[in-house]
Amino acid sequence: MVSTPPSQASDIQHELTRAEVEVDSLVKAPQQDIDIDLEFLYTRDIEFRQETIYFIVVDRFFDGEPDNNSGANSELFDTTGQSWGKYWGGDLQGVIEKLDYLKNLGVTALWLTPLFEQVEGLFVDNAAIHGYWIKDFKRINPRFIGKDENPSLNKTQETRDTTFDRLIAELHQRNMKLILDIVCNHSSPDISGVKGELYDDGVKIADFNDDKDYWYHHYGEVTNWEDEWQVHNCELSGLATFNENNSNYRNYIKAAIKQWLDRGVDALRVDTVKHMPIWFWQEFNAEIQNHKPDVFVFGEWIYNNPHDEPSVEFANCSGMTILDFGLCVAIRGALGQGAEGGFQLIQDIFDLDYRYNGATELVTFIDNHDMPRFQSLNPDPEMLRVAIALIMTSRGIPCIYYGTEQYLHDDTNGGNDPYNRPMMVNWDSDTEIYRYIRLLSGLRRLNPAVSVGSHQQRYITSDVYCYVRRYGNCMCFVALNRGEALVIDAVPTDFPDGEHTCVLSRRKFTVENGMLHNLELGPRDTIVLSRVGERAKGQVLVRAQLNSVRTQPGETIVVTGDCPELGNWDIAKAYPLEYINSNTWFAEIPFSESAGKLITYKYAMWREGRPPLRENLVSRRWFLASEGTVKWRDVWVSGRES
Ligand code: NOJ
Ligand code: CA
Repeated sequence: MVSTPPSQASDIQHELTRAEVEVDSLVKAPQQDIDIDLEFLYTRDIEFRQETIYFIVVDRFFDGEPDNNSGANSELFDTTGQSWGKYWGGDLQGVIEKLDYLKNLGVTALWLTPLFEQVEGLFVDNAAIHGYWIKDFKRINPRFIGKDENPSLNKTQETRDTTFDRLIAELHQRNMKLILDIVCNHSSPDISGVKGELYDDGVKIADFNDDKDYWYHHYGEVTNWEDEWQVHNCELSGLATFNENNSNYRNYIKAAIKQWLDRGVDALRVDTVKHMPIWFWQEFNAEIQNHKPDVFVFGEWIYNNPHDEPSVEFANCSGMTILDFGLCVAIRGALGQGAEGGFQLIQDIFDLDYRYNGATELVTFIDNHDMPRFQSLNPDPEMLRVAIALIMTSRGIPCIYYGTEQYLHDDTNGGNDPYNRPMMVNWDSDTEIYRYIRLLSGLRRLNPAVSVGSHQQRYITSDVYCYVRRYGNCMCFVALNRGEALVIDAVPTDFPDGEHTCVLSRRKFTVENGMLHNLELGPRDTIVLSRVGERAKGQVLVRAQLNSVRTQPGETIVVTGDCPELGNWDIAKAYPLEYINSNTWFAEIPFSESAGKLITYKYAMWREGRPPLRENLVSRRWFLASEGTVKWRDVWVSGRES
């Protein structure tokens, strides 16, 4: 056990409390005095970049309610915890009981495997413990809720005050969020001759084997993964694949998801997005975001990477961001498998960030329920900490797979599915990695350089990686070492000269002329230095993002407009944006005087020794809410000279 000296502990506590206060003020919904329609107009989506996500396989987390374990078919429950394909008892009450443990870990958002009612049978010796074989999208798996809350007992999920509703209330009380895992592509596989039987709150509405109304595609299994038509229309592992051309299906799935959003769900993780055409997702997201404008949505495009054009197009045009498999694969190679290229593999991914319009919103991870846990690749706990420190200080929103903080892994069969889904057994809040996650989660909330800033490499070899995250005068310097102890002669940091303290170890480092000299790194070491400048504060905070503007060194982007906050069209007083990467400029712009008013604005480029270049359009317009956080996602409209 590693303990923190009392004085340092109180410093850290102080920092975390400040972070929490700050986060509280950022995530609160706009207040009541705003007309509800205007609220709808103003808030496109909630800011998720400060979050630390924790992903739970519900059945394998904690059994808070043994009474629900036998479910509709007691054959599917294994009391011994030996049959990996059967249910082991974890449920929503179990999650509720561990919320304080998770909050203390620094987790701010929980992604739970799908909670919907599942088919109750075995498919190749496996029950639907993972939640991806759905029978009724409007009901919760009775194994996850109270026995007397089972909707088949003449109740429906509309009956409030179930364990699900309590979970949401308990999360929100702690300023934590719930991410619902949803599947629009398919329902269930063939189990004893029954396939794709679908229910609408208990009423049967479709059946793959008697599909008069064409709710499903019937083209068999995908055989050619290069053929987009097949990937969209054929089956994945025998799962009944919905026919998105059927508007009754689309209305059903949208209505079901809205029902859960109305119950308080904050965000969605969307399964198998690669398997449906982008128009479906655009329609789906448009409707979901109209219904609940501040919902954050991210999709699983399996093994996407920035070289893969369709997945990049999806991230930029579908209305949702995606899980960053490209980065995950690079981290697993460099740190899990000791690949020769080492950190250069990771830098190669960051070098392509400009292909995404929103690289800072990709959801980053090092393992999940579909691949061996990181420690099955490399059991060294120190290396796991380096990998976690990397995702928690890099661009993107980090997602920690349950149990990582307890070094949970089972290496049977290389740790492949199902051995990557063991039961959570330890709840120790003194592990070194638990402490890392807690501190770095606080850092993410406190320092906007980490949550929204640029990522600049400062020193790289296959074994050592130093980078600076930067937003205005907020900055974070990170040094990671996957190898043995070494000393680096000099590394540029951007930090002001003087002494700076590592967030993780409290070691002191002296910066001279912006450089760290003779930087000593221990084996598998991590150094994190943080400096937080003034943060923009206003009644309304606009997070303005501009894409597709190509600037040369010496050129900068500003927002000019008809309100005092944007300089009343005086371009010398326009609000400056920050460079994030060669495709993205960004700023948090505070508005107070103009809160609640209609404003007009446009972007312009400042160029040394030349007149500014303004966008070639009349203006952009925006109704500002009276309070809250807003995102602008704009694309540069080429300027014209003079
Ligand atoms: C991806 C999920 O992560 C995986 O666990 C599931 O089996 C497939 N999609 C099918 O839903
Ligand atoms: Ca249970």
